[in-house]
Amino acid sequence: MDEATTSERERLSERDTDAPDAGETGMSGVAPHETLPPKPSSLKPPLSKQDICLHLGDDYDRHLGAIMPPIFQNTLFTRKTANHGYTYTRVANPTIEIAERKIAALEGAEAARCFSSGMAAISAALMSVMEKDCHIVCPLNVYPPVKGFLEVYMKRFGVETTFVSGTDVGEIEAALRPNTRAIYLETPLSNVFTLQDLRAIAALAKAHGVTTIADNTWATPLYQNPIAFGIDIVVHSATKYMGGHSDILAGVMVGSEARMERVTHEERGLFGAAMDPHQAWLLIRGLRTLPLRMRQHQESAMRIAAHLETHPLVEQVLYPGLPSHPQHALARSQMSGYTGLISFVPRGTPEQIVSFVKGLALFEEGPSWGGFESLVNTPGLGIDEETSRRTGMPQRLVRLSIGLEDADALTADIDQALAGMLRGRA
Ligand SMILES: Cc1ncc(COP(=O)(O)O)c(C=O)c1O
Repeated sequence: MDEATTSERERLSERDTDAPDAGETGMSGVAPHETLPPKPSSLKPPLSKQDICLHLGDDYDRHLGAIMPPIFQNTLFTRKTANHGYTYTRVANPTIEIAERKIAALEGAEAARCFSSGMAAISAALMSVMEKDCHIVCPLNVYPPVKGFLEVYMKRFGVETTFVSGTDVGEIEAALRPNTRAIYLETPLSNVFTLQDLRAIAALAKAHGVTTIADNTWATPLYQNPIAFGIDIVVHSATKYMGGHSDILAGVMVGSEARMERVTHEERGLFGAAMDPHQAWLLIRGLRTLPLRMRQHQESAMRIAAHLETHPLVEQVLYPGLPSHPQHALARSQMSGYTGLISFVPRGTPEQIVSFVKGLALFEEGPSWGGFESLVNTPGLGIDEETSRRTGMPQRLVRLSIGLEDADALTADIDQALAGMLRGRA
């Protein structure tokens, strides 16, 4: 980071720590945040991920014995009679902090900050490391709005991005330039399910002084912890499995305490895409059942992926949990489990694939995933042959988000829809 940027950062974070109340300080216009330390947990360390999801952050004494914490649905915290440390919900809020503490602990990170959506967390993470005219490296099949943000939006500010396959560390190394500020990762990629090697890429980035950011939405912090491999920042769309009920948009950024503190006042404070307390409360509720739900998503997806692999009307199945996946060994070395989002390529024409989707009874059609409900999506149908070849995204790709319905019923539904596809049923 050059001198000018360093002093600008200092100015942005400037705060009058002696301010007795919610004074407007620094460019972020928010008062210092020095909340009371949370009550020590009665849980005995080391905490299991299940205990973190269920109980970390509970403080029954403080909340009249309420088994679920209250929703602090307020913007301002007055300090007229007590200096509890809270000022303004864009900076800190006790309900949001419970979600942040749980997710930081699940990721094995020092700190986390919640945002109003996954894209809010992702754009804030990128903005926190980018400078004018810098360069970013990113996988080509990344979640499309991230590609749009880098390739189109940030181009206005002179930012250039090199898109790589992500599967070849040498290709990433060759893409680095003196002004590269970040290697952005999403592993596995949530359409084609290729992986990036977190250990190798983190080591490469450290050797070149480049920050790494990894989208860990697919694996969830239960099954993959990029920070443990040396990744600097982890981002999540908590809209997906963490929320789990298709009723909240939510995002999280995870990293070192110092970085998260800076982000609180800069990218979250200045752009303002903070989480709403009610959203945080629903996220806490979702996290409590995350381990249970993920076990079921994984078990059903594994069975359905294995079944599809033997199906005569299926050309290819893309799921890192299958031993036949070309990067299964890497998947095993950096993940401890697999989740419920899978893709496959049926042996059929595009028209027959549309007919397959319409023939499914238990899968609703839509682009999201990670909720209780099963969903189907066809991200490749809209792209042309040249784009399909260049990106490695099959045009006939069908993506299934395996929900919590009975796995036998879901399998039978897929089978009848595949059979119906051949008859051209719409
Ligand atoms: C892999 C991945 N990352 C990030 C996002 C963005 O999350 P949100 O919709 O919460 O902004 C999505 C959304 O579908 C996604 O699939």
